[in-house]
Amino acid sequence: MRTNQQDITRRKVLKAVLGLGGMVLRVPGLAAKTANQRSTPPMTRGPFYPQIKPLDQDADLTALSGSRQHAQGQTVHLTGRILDLDGKPVSGARVAIWQADAHGHYHHPNDRQPTAVDGNFQGFGVQTTDAQGRYRFKTIKPGAYPLMAGLRTPHIHFEIEGRNARVVTQMFFPDEALNANDGLLQALQPAQRELVMAKRMPAIAGMDPRATHLAWDIILMSG
Ligand SMILES: [Fe+2]
Repeated sequence: MRTNQQDITRRKVLKAVLGLGGMVLRVPGLAAKTANQRSTPPMTRGPFYPQIKPLDQDADLTALSGSRQHAQGQTVHLTGRILDLDGKPVSGARVAIWQADAHGHYHHPNDRQPTAVDGNFQGFGVQTTDAQGRYRFKTIKPGAYPLMAGLRTPHIHFEIEGRNARVVTQMFFPDEALNANDGLLQALQPAQRELVMAKRMPAIAGMDPRATHLAWDIILMSG
């Protein structure tokens, strides 16, 4: 039986999802630019942005610093670039990600699902792009989780701060059956859905052959 508290929490979740949808933040003082079909579309930050970030915020989310334990789930190597509309790399951009663990559970007090929590999963990481605009994370494929009447398909939340623009968005997994039923993903135009979908790539040197390699470039309206 669903409790009043669970109802209140779910209403808060929906309010947060709807209230923050479509948010684009810009650095003050710069001329506003109109979103176009070539830039990565903004998507909701969602209700589970970490309130208290882990002490360990490095690019490997599969293990906590100083621990020999590893997070559960399918290992994913995520590589990509931050680009401007002219295709030029954005160096020095801050790239932060946060996501659910393999059980679909966020490390957030408002996530009250009665599912197991993977205490070995970092849940949040930060990188700064290099001179070619590249970033890289090692993480796990997040589990799907319930939201209102449906399921959120596996996704990773991103916040990118370039020199002139900041965008909050989400990355999705290709060939994922749940993508077809994800309300937030399907609310995007088809061309925008292409822009938030990662691509499967061949393994790179040193990668565990059982791991997945995905690539995703993010295009900012102004670098
Ligand atoms: Fe999410």
